[in-house]
Amino acid sequence: MKKKILSLTIAIAFTAPAMAQQAVEVLHWWTAGGEAAALGVLKGNLEKEGIKWNDMPVAGGGGEQAMTAVRARVTSGNPPAAVQMLGFDIQDWAKQGVLADMNDLANKEGWDKTVPLALQKFSKFNGKWVAAPVNVHSTNWVWANKAVLEKAGVKAEPKTWDDFIAALDKVQKAGFIGLAQGGQPWQETTMFDGVVLSAGGLDFYKKAFIDLDQKALNSPTMIKAFDRMSQLRKYADKDFSGRDWNVAAGMVISGKAGFQIMGDWAKGEFIAAKKVPGKDFLCFRVPGTQGIVSFNADQFAMFKVGADKVAAQTKLASAILNPGFQSAFNVVKGSAPARTDVSDAAFDDCGKKAIKDLAEANKNNTLVGSMAQGHTVPASIKNAFYDVVTRHFNGQIDSKKAAAELAAAAKG
Ligand code: BGC
Repeated sequence: MKKKILSLTIAIAFTAPAMAQQAVEVLHWWTAGGEAAALGVLKGNLEKEGIKWNDMPVAGGGGEQAMTAVRARVTSGNPPAAVQMLGFDIQDWAKQGVLADMNDLANKEGWDKTVPLALQKFSKFNGKWVAAPVNVHSTNWVWANKAVLEKAGVKAEPKTWDDFIAALDKVQKAGFIGLAQGGQPWQETTMFDGVVLSAGGLDFYKKAFIDLDQKALNSPTMIKAFDRMSQLRKYADKDFSGRDWNVAAGMVISGKAGFQIMGDWAKGEFIAAKKVPGKDFLCFRVPGTQGIVSFNADQFAMFKVGADKVAAQTKLASAILNPGFQSAFNVVKGSAPARTDVSDAAFDDCGKKAIKDLAEANKNNTLVGSMAQGHTVPASIKNAFYDVVTRHFNGQIDSKKAAAELAAAAKG
């Protein structure tokens, strides 16, 4: 009997075709130093499970270019297994019926109980999990070089808008660049999230960017927000146009500039440069937005792929939701975990603050989606908003016209 089984096994071993190595193709826009380091954690974990990582990077924050690349792949009937995606983009792709149903895995692992509801709203479509959330970022942050502030005589972290402007003034007068600015529409609009929240408050932001209320969009308060953008522009250097966000972060890291207003992926750059929060740099909420968190969550939308690719895709989704991974990844990425049950022990002070702010905002109902990062309106409107914000920031239209154009863009 034993002999028979043995010969059968040998026969199978000889006749079965050599098994191809399982692989996942992942499309993402994590090309900066801190981002690549964080992605390396995921790659490494999958490789340990014997899964090959086929990398498909398409640079550009907010994911505009990445979405164009995905469109081409879906049209040709050959989508990648997983695509980094934000908010409404996930829902848009789900509507087209091209995303996979991950409910078996999600139910087995209890995602419903551990992923914050604000994220689930985007990860699920018609009750089915179609994306695996990897983090929670937020956009209303300021990053500052501590030594520059000391040299400029900025004694305390600015708490109000006026304090902030006074601090920018001091930094500029001391011979530094006040604001490290990246000159791309998505970056200017990311800054606009925090500026609108500070100028108008949470209810105003919701009315304008979630309800698309015409009266809020074209209002004196929105004009005030645009005026604040013009104020900030005066503290940027003359070469900001076209500059990448990580290059702008580098200006704060190296002590050329005092401040940057950017989502907490910027912290990934400080960490990659071995800088320490509290000692080398400071992180605080855009003055006037304390207590509010304008979030965006990176998720990996899972596309319907051929049967031979499903096992690797499932392992990728499971690896993304793994609590140990969520800690290790987000420590490096600058974000908070996309699960509520991950300890903050491994995080630095800014990471601990991000996790605490998120939990409090969730409890106090002051957690709101980031407009700039695709969490309040679909891409068609978001991109029209980008266009208005960038033309205003570059001095092509005044604040009054910008507010009117924002309202018109919302109708589209
Ligand atoms: C993403 C971040 C990313 C940033 C810059 C944002 O849209 O949510 O994960 O680091 O773009 O690339």
